[in-house]
Amino acid sequence: MITAYSCRCGRTYRPTADRWRCDCGGLLDLPPAALPWPPRRDTASLWRYLDAGDLPWREVTMGEGGTPLVEEDGGLRLKLEYASPTGSFKDRGAVVLVALARALGATRLVADSSGNAGAAAAAYAARAGLPAEVFVPARTSEKKLAQIRGHGAAVTVVEGSREDTAAAAMARVGETGAFYASHVHNPYFHEGTKTFALEVFEQLGGAVPDVLALPAGNGTLVLGAWRGFEELRAAGLSGGVPRIVAVQAERCAPLAAAWAAGRPEPEPVRAALPTVAEGIAVAAPARGSRVLEAVAATGGGVVTVAEDEIAAAHAALAARGLWVEPTAAVPYAAVRRLRAEGSPLLGGTVVAPLCGSGLKASL
Ligand SMILES: Cc1ncc(COP(=O)(O)O)c(C=O)c1O
Ligand SMILES: [Zn+2]
Repeated sequence: MITAYSCRCGRTYRPTADRWRCDCGGLLDLPPAALPWPPRRDTASLWRYLDAGDLPWREVTMGEGGTPLVEEDGGLRLKLEYASPTGSFKDRGAVVLVALARALGATRLVADSSGNAGAAAAAYAARAGLPAEVFVPARTSEKKLAQIRGHGAAVTVVEGSREDTAAAAMARVGETGAFYASHVHNPYFHEGTKTFALEVFEQLGGAVPDVLALPAGNGTLVLGAWRGFEELRAAGLSGGVPRIVAVQAERCAPLAAAWAAGRPEPEPVRAALPTVAEGIAVAAPARGSRVLEAVAATGGGVVTVAEDEIAAAHAALAARGLWVEPTAAVPYAAVRRLRAEGSPLLGGTVVAPLCGSGLKASL
């Protein structure tokens, strides 16, 4: 599974514990992977879809993946990502990064997060016996902080934006040589999140949904799901990919602004207003241009939802037995609005994830 990183500048690198960006400063990518199919049968976890090679995944897995796909009215299916071991979809990527860190001989790990990715990194690091430090922005929910600390990770709270938090984590990585378990910078995270797509495909009986409505902060689920459906298509297992509708909170929407203006790069939001969707409040998403590319390539779009729409969607989900954190109601809020508008973005089978548990943060 350990394949070389590449950068758009042409450089390539064999992964090492201290490599998280290109010498040119650019982002690292992984080449398209061949999809082992049919999935293996010796595990029910997401590892059934991955050619794990030398990764010591059995030492760290908690059976992540395999989340329920629940049918709602009008062709909508909700994928209960909050039924993951640490209560969010971030387990998909975190387990791969921690297995990679072990394989590369890392002795400590640093992550930065709005909360859920940090909780997932801390949990899997604990299982791997790796000391971890997680940097979080000051407004992170108390329950997420307790979860991160509970797993034994050191928490450093950073005053300022999500970007200031990332900068502090990068500085610590520079000082200590720790493995940077970054869901934004390390492309192996997408090897984990791509399994979301592979599960949906199997749960629909070997069919591709027409639409995926996905939350987008840094876009790790957008990029992973796109990768997964592209790999299915490249393997000749499907005829196409779903339209990806990326959803942002109106109060912090750099991708939606770029999309509306037809720009290929997100314009960083300078003064983002506070939003209940703390998990996607990312003012300057590092892989933003790639997220816009995914949306355009699939014929989708980027839309925003307002605070009152998120609250209404949260309540509507609760009334259906589904208890999620406010951020996790965002894609469903968009589906409700687009349906009410009769938007051409919807139609056919629509899949939306519920990414985080309501036990982690409330309105
Ligand atoms: C509940 C929830 N949903 C969605 C997201 C967005 O993920 P991304 O930033 O990768 O787009 C996050 C990220 O922390 C999250 O915690
Ligand atoms: Zn480069």
